Order: sequence, then structure tokens, then C-alpha cells
Amino acid sequence: EAGALWGGRFAGGPSPELARLSRSTHFDWQLAGYDLAGSRAHARALHRAGYLDDGELDGMIAAIDELQRRVDAGEFLPAASDEDVHSALERGLIEIAGSELGGKLRAGRSRNDQIATLIRMLLRDHSAELARLLVDLIDALAAQAEANSTAIMPGRTHLQHAQPVLLAHHLLAHCWPLVRDLERLDDWRRRADASPYGSGALAGNTLGLDAKLIADELGFAAVAPNSIDATAARDIVAEFAFVTAQVGIDLSRIAEEIILWNTREFGFVTLDDGYSTGSSIMPQKKNPDIAELARGKAGRLIGNLAGLLTTLKGLPLAYNRDLQEDKEPVFDSIETLEILLPAFTGMVATLHFHTDRMRELAPEGYSLATDVAEWLVKQHVPFRDAHEITGLLVSFAESRGIGLEEVDDDALARISPHLTPAVREVLTVEGSVASRDGIAGTAPARVAEQRALLADRVRQV
Ligand code: ARG
Repeated sequence: EAGALWGGRFAGGPSPELARLSRSTHFDWQLAGYDLAGSRAHARALHRAGYLDDGELDGMIAAIDELQRRVDAGEFLPAASDEDVHSALERGLIEIAGSELGGKLRAGRSRNDQIATLIRMLLRDHSAELARLLVDLIDALAAQAEANSTAIMPGRTHLQHAQPVLLAHHLLAHCWPLVRDLERLDDWRRRADASPYGSGALAGNTLGLDAKLIADELGFAAVAPNSIDATAARDIVAEFAFVTAQVGIDLSRIAEEIILWNTREFGFVTLDDGYSTGSSIMPQKKNPDIAELARGKAGRLIGNLAGLLTTLKGLPLAYNRDLQEDKEPVFDSIETLEILLPAFTGMVATLHFHTDRMRELAPEGYSLATDVAEWLVKQHVPFRDAHEITGLLVSFAESRGIGLEEVDDDALARISPHLTPAVREVLTVEGSVASRDGIAGTAPARVAEQRALLADRVRQV
């Protein structure tokens, strides 16, 4: 087989069935630029160790640069006979540099240390891109919080009215998981910052190559300390896939609320026309497809992670071809988020909130009952009694079909002598929200503080 990286010990080329199964260029071709960067660094290490003279190094670098140009221009493409990106690029190099010079580059490296290095380089670049996209979404949510800084909505637990909260507080609650995702990416980058290059197939190389030189040139802080681990581990890839899955989950939770808020029953938001879709049969429809796709794609992102973890489970050391299966899931997760996040951010940035409707529903469902109980505590009623008294008040109001604030003075006194008319001071949603002024609470001043804290944390990553 003309282009294969192996063949000496084989009587013939691979069967067509094997070639078809084995081929990975349709997905690993996106590593070509990283492969070529690795080849430049490797050529310099070979030169430093005395395996390429000055002229050969110059010739090699020039040939790699020319190959890069051809790849970028789409003039050089993988052929059906190329097993993977590494094989294809060696064929391309030899086409340019001749087999005498081109054939020297493979000394002291293996596709095993190459691929383990290249995938880290690719993920590093995408971690920066994903971080940028996440910051855009956090900014969009925080901008909506700022634009609607006084709006009050029903806060829910168990999807039931619980206590009124500021809409801004709720929106910021969706920002914090995304901030932690940003921090996760940052933390991941630290662990991914070691270069497997120089580990060879599994045991290291015999040629005295300076792996630190290669690591420096490829932008890694260190050389991976164990050649077996460096070539066989993919926890770095799995961890990246986890972060993308977690982002998917975080988006799906926002998405689910937007879908609910956008129903006629809630009526809390209207989606911008540019970020919603119509129906092919029902002319009146305006659907929240971006949110639904986000919710759906979370499943896909989780599936990619689960598949990859399953591939890794029980694999013996060191490299096994199973490891080739790391790429498609994580590449798919990256592409999924890089397409989804801009659309999602656009939808959030252009959401129109119906704050009057939110305000109107905020006191419903006796959501101020906790305020009454805590008001009683401030009158030095033990909380156990306060809870009981407030329960009686709610049940009284419910039986009359009225709000807590509508219960008259006599009825209040009959329920409990502690319920003086002064209790009405806490029976407004504004009063309730303002009174939750402990750290992290929903009082407007606290929420404004929180917005500033969030901006700080985002700036730190
Ligand atoms: N295409 C392979 C992968 O993605 C590269 C390493 C192949 N190594 C080997 N010995 N077959 O994992």
C-alpha cells in the first residue's frame, strides 16, 4: 500500500472492508493544522538532537509550510487510501519534500503521542471559543436583569407559587451556573496543559529528543510526566465533554422556563420574531424553537459524554484503537454548542418581559404567607406558633376566596390576638421583596450588589 505508514511486514495492503472501517480522515482532518504545528516542533527537536542538519531543517520547515498552504487552500485533501490525518499529511509532505527528507520526520514519534497532543491543542482552542460564547450569554442575561431591575415575579418551588422575587434575581440565578462552567473550562485548561509529545508509542523515545522544546513551541506549560499515561489517558477529553454536557443542562433549564413563560397561561414573555418560528399549518403560531432545540440538544451532549466514558471504561494500558472513538463525540459536542450558544444568546437578549403580568401574579397562591409568619416572629411569637397562626389565616382567606390583605381586623383578631392590623405592612410584594435583605437575598440592593459581584467573577476567568 503506497501511502500507508506501515507495510514492511505485510504481504499486501489492507482489505477494502478494513480500510473503510479504519479510516478517520472524515472527522480527524480538522486536526491537520495542529498536526503540522506538531511536525514543525518535532522537526526542530530532531535537528537539536542531530538527526537533521541545518539545511534539512530548513527544507523540512519549508515543506511543512507549503503543505499547510495547500491544506488551507483546499489543494491537498485526504485520499481514500489515507488511514488518518497523520498518514495523509505524511503523504503530502513526501510529495513536496521527497521521500529522502520527508521520510525522516517520523523518527522518534508515534501517532499515539501525536494524537494525544493534537486533541489537547484543539480542545484548548475551543475552550477559549466556548468561554467567549458563554460570556456573551451571561452578559445577555445580566443585561436583562439590569433592564428589568425593579420587576417582581412569583418565585416558585415545586413549580408552585412560593415567595415573590425580583425577576433580576431569578435571571442572575441562571448566570451563576454558567459562571461555574467558565471556571470549569479554566480549571480544565490547567490539567490539559501538559504535552504528550515525546512519549512515542507508549514507552518514550530513544533519540534524546527534547520534549520540553516541543511542549514550549506548542504552547504547553509542561511535558506530561508519564509516557504510558500520556498516550493512553483520555480523561482530559472526557472532562471537556462533561463541561459541554453541563452547559447543555444549564441551557436546557433556562430553555424550559422560557418555553413555560411563553405560554398563553403564563404570558410572561414574548419572543422576538427573529428568534422564533412559525407553523406550516397554523398561521397564528409563534414557537420557541431555539429553547426547544436547546432542551433537546442537552440530551445529545449528555449522550456524547456517556458514550465516551463507556468507551474508556475498562481499557487496558496503553494505547488501544478504541481511543480513536474519543473524537466524534467531543467534536460533535463542540459544534453543537458553538452553533447553539449564539442563537440562544440572541433569543435571551431580545426577550420582551411582561412585567405587569408577573407583578399581578406575584402575590397569588398566598405567596406572602412566609412574610406574615416572619412578621409574627419579629413580634416575638415562637416560629412554631407563627407558622400555625399563618396557616389558619391562609385557610380562612382561602375559604372566603380572598387575599390575605383583604382579611378584616376582626377576623384577624379572631384567628390570633397577635395578628394586629399592623401585619398588613408586610402584605405587599414590594415589602416582601425589600425585606429579604440578607446576603444573597432578593432585596433590590442585594441584587444590585450581586450583579456587580457576577461581573467581577466573569472578569476574573
Ligand atoms: N487515528 C488514531 C486515533 O485517533 C491515531 C493513532 C493511531 N495509532 C495507532 N497505533 N493505530 O487514535
